[in-house]
Amino acid sequence: MKNIQISPSILSADFSQLGEEIKRLEGGGADLIHVDVMDGHFVPNITIGPPVIKTLRNYTKLPFDVHLMISPVHKYIKNFAEAGSDIITIHPEATDNLIESIKLIKQLNKKVGISLNPNTEVSVIEKLLKEIDLVLIMSVYPGFGGQKFIPEVIEKIKKLYQIKKDKKLKFDIEVDGGINFSNSKEVISAGANILVSGTTIFKENNGDIKKNIETLKSM
Ligand code: DX5
Ligand code: ZN
Repeated sequence: MKNIQISPSILSADFSQLGEEIKRLEGGGADLIHVDVMDGHFVPNITIGPPVIKTLRNYTKLPFDVHLMISPVHKYIKNFAEAGSDIITIHPEATDNLIESIKLIKQLNKKVGISLNPNTEVSVIEKLLKEIDLVLIMSVYPGFGGQKFIPEVIEKIKKLYQIKKDKKLKFDIEVDGGINFSNSKEVISAGANILVSGTTIFKENNGDIKKNIETLKSM
């Protein structure tokens, strides 16, 4: 069976006790912790930055899957690396030089992720796929939790998975936005191996994180 990982987004957690929320995620079987960083400029919402991530680092050994929705992103990459990120994911539109930004993340010994908005084609990063560790396919327009999954992205996941197989590449395919118990199977079948989820993990079944993670993983 395919190894599916769940990366709960702390965007839907109780921000007044993020440390405890992260422990709860770890106890519930999360594989990664998805941290949504927003700047009120690249996306119309503001969340947290490196000092908060650094503090949260003490609460878990799970990898921090840091999704940067900030622009220009390049000059902040080092700060996020030093704060304790394990995967640093950037949007191609948020940097003047995508190749340099990828190089920098690698130099800092972090995994590199590239995120594709619903209207950004796979072709934008096709030549770079052998350089990166992860592609984060957005299934909503970034900015807010609790939005509705855009079904058209299923085709994009399939296309990317086909390229991955054809070229025998190893990058992860992670999908972010509006993931729920009704669409998770289709997303996994299309080729995703990591699912991000905020609302479903924290709100379904009265917030039973363990049950929600298990249900999302089960095919
Ligand atoms: C959107 C964020 C997502 C989102 C996931 O900008 O990148 O991580 O908050 O939350 P749900 O699962 O509620 O769509
Ligand atoms: Zn995200």
